[in-house]
Amino acid sequence: MQRLKNKTCVVTGAARGIGRAIAARFHDEGAIVILTDIDAVSGAAAAAEIGCRFEPLDVREEGDWARLAGIVPVADVVVNNAGITGFEGGMVPHDPEHASLADWRAVHRVNLDGTFLGCRYAIGAMRGTGTGSILNISSRSGLVGIPGAAAYAASKAAIRNHSKTVALYCAQQGWQIRCNSIHPAAILTPMWEPMLGSGPGREARMQALVADTPLRRFGMPEEVAALAVTLASDEATYVTGTEIHVDGGLLAGSAASPG
Ligand SMILES: NC(=O)c1ccc[n+]([C@@H]2O[C@H](COP(=O)([O-])OP(=O)(O)OC[C@H]3O[C@@H](n4cnc5c(N)ncnc54)[C@H](O)[C@@H]3O)[C@@H](O)[C@H]2O)c1
Repeated sequence: MQRLKNKTCVVTGAARGIGRAIAARFHDEGAIVILTDIDAVSGAAAAAEIGCRFEPLDVREEGDWARLAGIVPVADVVVNNAGITGFEGGMVPHDPEHASLADWRAVHRVNLDGTFLGCRYAIGAMRGTGTGSILNISSRSGLVGIPGAAAYAASKAAIRNHSKTVALYCAQQGWQIRCNSIHPAAILTPMWEPMLGSGPGREARMQALVADTPLRRFGMPEEVAALAVTLASDEATYVTGTEIHVDGGLLAGSAASPG
C-alpha cells in the first residue's frame, strides 16, 4: 500500500468528489499530497481529515499557479481534476443553439484553461528531475457529443487532445514525463446534484441516467482513484499519451447496437 511512497502529488479541485478521493488514496499510498481547490473552507477541511496539506488554487488564475510554483517547485504527480459542467448555478441552456457565449467561456476557462495551466505548471515542476506523471481528468463527454452540454463536451475533448500533445512534447525533450487522460462517466459525486435533485423522483432519475450503462450503476469516486494510483505510480512508466475509460462499459458499445 505504498505505491506512491514519498512522491509529491498535487491534486486540483480536491475539496470533494473525485479529486478528494484521489487525494485520500494517494495519501494512503504514501504520497506527500498537496490538496488544492478554489473552495478554501471545504478544501482545508478535506485536507485536515485526510491528513495532508491544503493550498488554495483557482485553476483559472495564472497568479495562483505561480504562487504554487513558488511553494511547491518540484512535483512528481499533478492531477488536473478541477472541472465544472456549467450547471452549478442551475439548469441554464447549454445546447449549441441556446448556450450563451459567457456560459461557454466560463466552462472552458475552468476545464480547458485550468488544465493548460496545470500542465504548464507540472512540466516546470518535473523538468528538473525529468520524470513525472500528469493526469488530466477528461470525461466520456470528451469522446462523444452531448447535445445539452456543448461547452462541457468540447472542453473535455480538448483536454483529451492536449494530454497527447503534452505527452509528445515531453517525450520530444527526452524526459520520462508522462501525460494521460482519464475518462470517467456517471461517477456519483456532488457534481450530479443539480441534475438529480431531491424528492421522490430522485431514485428514478438516478436509474434513468445509468440505464444505458452496461454495469447499470453509478461508479464511485474511489473507482477512479484506484486507476489514478496506477497511472501515477512507477507501475505505469511506459504508459503515456493514452486515454483510459472508467465508465462501467458505456463506451464499449453503441446505442445503435441491435439488442
Ligand atoms: N462525476 C462524474 O460523473 C464525472 C464524469 C466525468 C468527468 N468528471 C470530471 O471529474 C472531475 C471532478 O468531478 P467531480 O464529479 O468530483 O466534481 P465536483 O463538482 O464534485 O467537484 C469539483 C471540485 O472542483 C472545484 N473547482 C471548481 N472550480 C474550480 C476552480 N476554478 N479552481 C479550482 N477548483 C475548482 C470545486 O470546488 C469542487 O471541489 C471534473 O473535471 C469532472 O468534469 C466527473
